[in-house]
Order: sequence, then structure tokens, then C-alpha cells
Amino acid sequence: MKLKTTAFGSSHAKIILFGEHSVVYDQPAIALPLYSVNTTVTLTATNTPPSVTSNYYNGPLADLDNNLLGIKELINYLLDYFNAPTLQFNLNVHSTIPLERGMGSSAAIATAITRAFFDYFNQPIDRATLLQIANVEEQITHGSPSGIDLATVSSEKPIWFIKNQENQQIDFKITNSYLVIADTGIKGKTSAAVNLVKQKLANSESHRQSIEQLGQIAFQARTSLAKTTDVKVIGELMNQAQGHLQSLGVSHPIIEQFCTLARLNGALGAKLTGSGLGGCVIALTDNLQTAQIIKNNLNAIGATETWIQSFANYDNQLEEHLE
Ligand code: PMV
Repeated sequence: MKLKTTAFGSSHAKIILFGEHSVVYDQPAIALPLYSVNTTVTLTATNTPPSVTSNYYNGPLADLDNNLLGIKELINYLLDYFNAPTLQFNLNVHSTIPLERGMGSSAAIATAITRAFFDYFNQPIDRATLLQIANVEEQITHGSPSGIDLATVSSEKPIWFIKNQENQQIDFKITNSYLVIADTGIKGKTSAAVNLVKQKLANSESHRQSIEQLGQIAFQARTSLAKTTDVKVIGELMNQAQGHLQSLGVSHPIIEQFCTLARLNGALGAKLTGSGLGGCVIALTDNLQTAQIIKNNLNAIGATETWIQSFANYDNQLEEHLE
């Protein structure tokens, strides 16, 4: 088989619309791909030892430091998988996904690297294999992730996700709406946030009820997303979800400030997305002008980056199952 000299893999960011944290406790979640924020990986055959070039690290693969251990182990796993332990290559990782902001940066990099290796070895990759291999990185980077990040960064469609059970394309009919995504600039701490929730649940019935409520909210949101008329309901559900996430202890004063400002400027709802304690806030509007006002005002109070995602991109009639 003739191998390529240059191979490619790509992936994109993700946003959890409903169900962060409760998804860890077997409740459903809804997550959206964010196509405009993405990662591309170029694998080039060389005659020098394996190296990585990226925004975060440039140098030999062997010297990748411990906070990139997941990436290093994934690459070693792929070299074993293709029985190519002596392959010489450069891996160039270009990513516009901010790190540790609940946008799935590590999962997207793992997905793009896995796709680049399969492209290099001229092998097609099915979804189950992709999720299983990229998870080598996620297990090391995140401990025991629910899998929602990988499921969304490798999907072209919004998904309905229940840990180890469902990973399915969702019916999405609200097309005339917009999400403003704003980065607080504060690094989210997924494992710290997941542990915090775990401790709260051990000691309090009301916190256990919050998890159940977050699950109920996801079910209601799924029904509303399938109608063209229910955008206000989705906004209200986002506000309710934020209340539960706050009581679980994973909000942050800046997250609350961003949510309040978005609502005062016409957002139908606003909440954190991802693990919280920092990271990003999402706000829903039913028109682009309001979305732009919210974006500008969040920038003015210190959002480090903001994006607007139109729900029109998610319109679909398909009932394709992703597993
Ligand atoms: O990686 P993040 O920050 O998007 O968090 C993932 C969502 C959690 O529900 C908090 C954790 C998980 O594994 O699902």
C-alpha cells in the first residue's frame, strides 16, 4: 500500500445546551457542534524523530510534558494500532478552540489526530472505532468522562446523549434563533467541578433533586426543540438549568454576571455550558440583532472571546442514529 506523505484530520468545538453534570449521573444531555471553532491536524511523513508543532507545544513527541500526556498516549496507541512504532512524522495541530473552557478542546484534538492517522494509513474509520480510540486521550486528560465531549466533537449534528446508552441525532426545528457564546477567560476545571458535585450529592437530598430536575429539563427541551414555536420555552429552561447548576456550586460570579447582562439585554435564557467554575456562558435570542447587542456588551465587560451560532445550521429532517 502506498502511504501519503501528508494526511489530514479535523474536528470542531462543542457546546452543551442542557445536561452538564447531570449526564454523569445517567440523565440525558443535549449538545451541539460548533462548526466555526475547530481543530485541524496535518500529519507529514519526515525522516526525523516524531515531533509535534502547535500553539501550545513545539518539539519532539518524546518530550511532550505531563499535561499533554493524554495526547502522547493517544499517538503511541495509534502507532501500535497501525503496527508502525518506528514511523517518523511531524504532527501539526492548529486549533481555534480555547483550552479548558468547556468547548471540548481536548476531545476535538484527539478526534482530529485519530482521523489524521487513519487518513495517513488510507483506512476508513467508523464512528464506534473513532470514539473508542480518541477516548484513550480523554480517559487520561479527564479521568472518567461521560463521553459527551467526544460524541459531539465527532458529530455533524446536535445530539441527544445518555452515558453508555444513547448517542442519537436530535430533531431540531427551532431555526430562527441564535446562541451567543462568551468565554469568561477563566479556565474551567472539569475534574474539580465533577468532584465538587459528587461531594454535594453525597450530603444533600436537595442536590440530588437538582440532578433529577436537570434531567427533566433536558427531556422538556428535546420536545421543545422539535417544534418551531417554542424558543421562549427553551430560554426559560436554560434559566432553570442555570439555577440548578448554581445551587450545585459550579457557577462563578463572572458566569452570573454574564447571564444577568445577557438577560437584561434581551436574552430569552442564559446559562453556563460545560463543567463550569469558569469556561463559557451561552445566551439564547430569537433574532440576530439582539444576539449582536449581547455579544458586544459581553465583550465590553470582559469576555475574552465571543461567537454567535445560528440554529439554522442545525436544521435537519434526518433520523440518522450515530451509533
Ligand atoms: O469538558 P467540559 O468542561 O465540557 O465538561 C463536560 C461535562 C461534564 O458533564 C461536567 C463532565 C462529563 O464528563 O460529562
